[in-house]
Amino acid sequence: MDKGTHYEVKDMKLAQQGMLNLEIAESRMGALMKIKQRFAKEKPLKGIKVGMALHVTKETGILVRTLIAGGAEVAITGCNPLSTQDDVAAALAKEGIKVWAYKGETKEDYYRYLKNIIAFRPHITIDDGCDLVSEIHKNHPELIKSIIGGCEETTTGVVRLQAMHKDGALKYPMIAVNNNKTKHLLDNYYGTGQSTLDGILRATNILFAGKNVVVCGYGSCGKGVAQKARGMGSHVIVTEVNAFAGLQAAMDGFSVMPIAQASKVGDVFITVTGNKNVIDIVHLKNMKDGAVLANSGHFDAEINLAALKKVAKSRQVRPSLEEYTLNGKKLYVCGEGRLVNLAAAEGHPSEVMSTSFCGQALACEFVVKNKGKLQPEVIELPAHIDDAIAKLQLDAMDIRIDDLTAEQKKYMESWEEGT
Ligand SMILES: NC(=O)c1ccc[n+]([C@@H]2O[C@H](COP(=O)([O-])OP(=O)(O)OC[C@H]3O[C@@H](n4cnc5c(N)ncnc54)[C@H](O)[C@@H]3O)[C@@H](O)[C@H]2O)c1
Repeated sequence: MDKGTHYEVKDMKLAQQGMLNLEIAESRMGALMKIKQRFAKEKPLKGIKVGMALHVTKETGILVRTLIAGGAEVAITGCNPLSTQDDVAAALAKEGIKVWAYKGETKEDYYRYLKNIIAFRPHITIDDGCDLVSEIHKNHPELIKSIIGGCEETTTGVVRLQAMHKDGALKYPMIAVNNNKTKHLLDNYYGTGQSTLDGILRATNILFAGKNVVVCGYGSCGKGVAQKARGMGSHVIVTEVNAFAGLQAAMDGFSVMPIAQASKVGDVFITVTGNKNVIDIVHLKNMKDGAVLANSGHFDAEINLAALKKVAKSRQVRPSLEEYTLNGKKLYVCGEGRLVNLAAAEGHPSEVMSTSFCGQALACEFVVKNKGKLQPEVIELPAHIDDAIAKLQLDAMDIRIDDLTAEQKKYMESWEEGT
């Protein structure tokens, strides 16, 4: 481990590779780069300290640089023990950024690093999964008076924030960046769809064509995963607990059945629900020999690995792949049941994170502009900001769309004209 006054990373010798990866990411994040250029001129975050608990990837590195261009001081740690890209962490440390993160963090280090972010006394927090906000509220309430707001990146974090608000526990305004339409479309749907399969492929190198792929959860992420698996020739089975989502899966042409039934026929199981023990020990016992399991939901709670470990023998057979032997059958679990796209691959492609992080950068600006005016609740960004992000991404892709003509605008706003 390399330690300095402002960092703790795996190996500073990786910094050069990290710089190259940051350069590649930057070239694919045109929308975010436009915001960085504006921030560099306008300095909307001057004097603001931003404390982040986000996956430390090359794309997050570009967000960090964007916030710094806007005048902020940034300190960052990871939000998952397996998602840090060590070369990027080293490169950020070399740039002088406060960074504490390495891939394979112990739970003790994970929470020690969160405490470093807290000791930095941020005015804005950026979370992916709500661990930083939760730690501040539970153990450092004295910090809350100097915090002007926070931003949350993922569905699970937003769900936790809403639960805090319902209990009257949330004490500062939180922007649900996750709920931006642009974030949901690019990140949860397209990004998770592709990168989840990428993680499973890197961990196992299996052929998806011809396999029964069971997708648990048909929300934004599950829809993306199901579509991509179908595109690779798999027969996709969806499990759900919500009638509307189950209906939509059926109408989209997927088989829909309870997990108890799906567990007997699946070759590959992918959980993306944000829920707990979605695949429980009883289902694991039902599975076919050679079944592959992966989770792309935020926490490693979706597959009951704790129960499996009690009854099965396990060994690591490849990087990011564990084999469990249970009653003479073998089950394969990717990335320890943690977010497979980050644990076994590189997370979302840069183009995806560009739109998500446009949301984060503009949310920070929004929080500063509205300092003292926002309530301690879960807040969505105004629709015009979301539309501006879509426009930035279209521009980055060199795609133009039409403008309403004056006649069309008038027509859309009037009610007299009819048949
Ligand atoms: N891997 C990634 O990069 C990534 C990206 C975005 C979001 N996420 C995470 O993925 C998870 C899902 O996010 P989302 O935006 O799709 O959420 P969502 O709320 O849109 O969808 C979740 C779906 O799971 C269903 N569900 C809940 N419990 C279930 C159960 N026991 N069995 C079957 N289905 C069940 C719900 O009914 C819902 O339709 C969250 O934890 C989120 O934080 C991961």
